[in-house]
Amino acid sequence: MNDSIRAQFPILHQSVNGKPLIYFDNAATSQKPLAVINAIKDYYEQYNSNIHRGAHHLAQLATEKYENARTAVAQHINASEHEINFVRGTTEAVNLVATSYGRKFIKAGDEIIVSEMEHHSNIVPWQMLCEEKRATLRVIPINDAGEIIFEEYLKLLSEKTKIVSIAYISNAIGSIHPVKEVISEAHKVGAVVFIDGAQALPHKKVDVKDLDCDFLGFSGHKVFAGTGIGILYGKAELLEAMNPYMGGGEMIKSVSFAGTTYNDLPFKFEAGTPHIEGGISLGAAINYINEIGLDKIASYEDELLAYGTEKFLEVEGLRIVGTAKNKASVISFLVNNIHMNDIGILLNEQGIAIRIGHHCCQPLMDRLKIEGTCRASFAFYNTKEEIDATVNALKRIVKRLS
Ligand code: ALA
Repeated sequence: MNDSIRAQFPILHQSVNGKPLIYFDNAATSQKPLAVINAIKDYYEQYNSNIHRGAHHLAQLATEKYENARTAVAQHINASEHEINFVRGTTEAVNLVATSYGRKFIKAGDEIIVSEMEHHSNIVPWQMLCEEKRATLRVIPINDAGEIIFEEYLKLLSEKTKIVSIAYISNAIGSIHPVKEVISEAHKVGAVVFIDGAQALPHKKVDVKDLDCDFLGFSGHKVFAGTGIGILYGKAELLEAMNPYMGGGEMIKSVSFAGTTYNDLPFKFEAGTPHIEGGISLGAAINYINEIGLDKIASYEDELLAYGTEKFLEVEGLRIVGTAKNKASVISFLVNNIHMNDIGILLNEQGIAIRIGHHCCQPLMDRLKIEGTCRASFAFYNTKEEIDATVNALKRIVKRLS
């Protein structure tokens, strides 16, 4: 990756605390290229309008751009357009499935499986559903490297299993789960599978047909688009069978006090005026990463991860948390007895942005018997020089605080 790519991300070219910004908090949110920023700007400057029902030019233009974004997403993940539902983000995608699928199909005594390292958004909605339905949440344990123990997963599966919900990539420690195998085993017992793709979409090609997942959720802002927009993919026959999530305009065919009929997919799940510029920004972001090429992005990030892992381990007393064989470009770490907050504050003084804490994965932190980690997460616009600068800063911190 080269300077011409960095040039497309205006935010990267600034100083923080008198030092050039090093942005290593990409797992929390990614930065936006000019293609995305301009798409949002153009919407407001040229054709801001509500979509789908307007009879006028601006509404037609806005509708076309919004629906083009849906097409871009559908092609990107190898789905059909009516299987692509715009939602606010991964969290809403999980909640939608837990509510609209879960409330209809889960009964007392059924079981739902998640892994021990899920984000809270892929635990709590299922806990709520289980509580309501008197179903049971079962948990796939992990090993010390941060990999799911597949044999234990197989033992949890039974005819009681109705839903398996698992992240493709762990946000906290970067482990890539063998989701294709997870899905095929779940299907053998008749369960449906939700894949939390929040951390996967920015880093790798995700093909829903190849995976054969039943549902996939992801967030726009992690994949270089704006915030407040995301996608729920679902197999059409499942979405058809589900109840709507929210009632309102757009999701109906006709309304009367005698009864209401619902709109066709995907509008059935899109009540109210949607996040129009968010959807358009997501289309722009998907087109942008496809122009660069996800294979190129993935192999560059693998290189950054390998380089970063070696370099970070040069810091005396630094321990990497999460050493899965198959990992995305995330380095979670702790250093001696230095508190993660101190590391975060002192790196920030050097213009370096990392994240500290439990990363919305308290059960994972409990399993690892730690309070949290410092997390550096890389995107394709990061560089080896930025890793060197961070490692040097960490070495100085260790010298100062040990
Ligand atoms: N889920 C986001 C993260 O991992 C916020 O940082």
